[in-house]
Amino acid sequence: MTLQKEPTILIIFGCMGDLTWRKLDPALYNLLLAQQLPDRFAVIGLDLKDETKDGFGLRLRDGVKNFCNCGDIDAKTWGKYIANLSYISGDFADPATFAALNEQLKTYEKNWGGPANHIFYLATPPGIVETIVKGIGAANLADDKKRVRIVVEKPFGHDLDSAIALNSVLTAVFDEAQIYRIDHYLGKETVQNILAFRFANALFEPIWDRRYIDHVQITVAEQVGVEHRGEYYEHAGALRDMIQNHLMQILCLIAMEPMVSFEADEIRNKKVDVLRAIRRIQADQVQHLAVRGQYGAGRMNGHKVPAYRAEPGVASDSPAETFAAMKLFIDNWRWQDVPFYLRTGKRLQKMFSEVVIQFRPVPHQSFPTTAALTWQPNHLVIHIQPEEGIVLRFQAKQPGSILHLRPVDMHFSYQETFKLKSPEAYETLLADVMAGDATLFMRADQVEGSWSAITPILNVWQNALPSDFPNYVAGTWGPEAADVLIAKDGRSWNHSTLEENQKK
Ligand code: BG6
Repeated sequence: MTLQKEPTILIIFGCMGDLTWRKLDPALYNLLLAQQLPDRFAVIGLDLKDETKDGFGLRLRDGVKNFCNCGDIDAKTWGKYIANLSYISGDFADPATFAALNEQLKTYEKNWGGPANHIFYLATPPGIVETIVKGIGAANLADDKKRVRIVVEKPFGHDLDSAIALNSVLTAVFDEAQIYRIDHYLGKETVQNILAFRFANALFEPIWDRRYIDHVQITVAEQVGVEHRGEYYEHAGALRDMIQNHLMQILCLIAMEPMVSFEADEIRNKKVDVLRAIRRIQADQVQHLAVRGQYGAGRMNGHKVPAYRAEPGVASDSPAETFAAMKLFIDNWRWQDVPFYLRTGKRLQKMFSEVVIQFRPVPHQSFPTTAALTWQPNHLVIHIQPEEGIVLRFQAKQPGSILHLRPVDMHFSYQETFKLKSPEAYETLLADVMAGDATLFMRADQVEGSWSAITPILNVWQNALPSDFPNYVAGTWGPEAADVLIAKDGRSWNHSTLEENQKK
């Protein structure tokens, strides 16, 4: 993260909404505490709500109190935080809203005696993005290509066609270099560390290919249900909500070729190469390569939880999947025929995100069979959350006169090593937008490439509604078919390092 000192005005569309309250505001306050905000910094909030600047300030204070995890709010710091705060209540389809915004921008710049960077943050539902972008364009607020940036939240479209359409709306007003498409997984320290792990060490790269790797698993398991987001989720489902973005981005980091330099476009080019090499799934293969599920009622941590279909905003016969798993292949020299298994779900038994790289067995077992009864292949587990670290599992001789082999783990833990709390993803990403560093943001072709990879599954699922939903009980590991998906290849989902770590 580079320190950014240029005067900056952050313009938040949808500033009274959940995202600002839970994520952006606490992240900004933490950045202020870490002295990473420019001295000249202002926030202009826009929302349809008939609110005042003071009401907006109170909402921000509430967000910091509830979600910041930074102790008591100190009056002096708070005063500094809200020193340059404005609120504009208006309809985003009304040119008068943008005229008022323009006035406010000019007022700050006049007071500061010079131009500032303008960052438009669209913390709004996707349906209004096009209207806002056109409003910004019509008011000529995007003309300064160097000083103006726009941040867009997911979902980037609903499928490949709508993503292409959204990208053309954005690029009609902004240059690609001004557009920052957020995938908050890329802001997580453990996700960023994948590149450091792979390319700052000489040890792993020589064995990071089809000759040594048997398969890769990427899991993002959640305990939470759909919460208050039923209406959004009904149109999304797990494949769109998680796999199209977060899991595909992790896949790219694991599978990409080494970058020549740490330039944003160089890294993004390498990721796009991975997406382009994903083997196209044919419609008749979908049932063999992908599994969907939906949770029924069950128990989580000793409490009863309702079925997805009983959640607010959800239809009683909803076909939306709350679990998705898939197997894919990357057709290139490095990865030919190495399966990548991806899975994600809500209301699963444990909350964890991890990548498992399982290596091939030794070419010849020279130990007596009894010695190797508990033998397991080597694997490397990258824990993304809540554990943050890396575990390397290898075989050791158990002490004693009789030869027994046993898998043992070598651990690296962020917490133990660095004794520091990792910054929240939004802190990293906001600081990067302010610094004009787009490395951790998605370029249009990445978004489109990732939609292309899952489109055949989306189409088949859309055309054949599920007949067995709900097909897993809340608090379990998802539908049985997901175990079968990997078991028919003679493999199983990894739960072992996680469970052993949690016993410690
Ligand atoms: C969001 C999804 O992008 O990521 C949510 O829309 C999901 O459905 C969330 O719960 C998970 O993020 P995290 O950081 O809590 O793992």
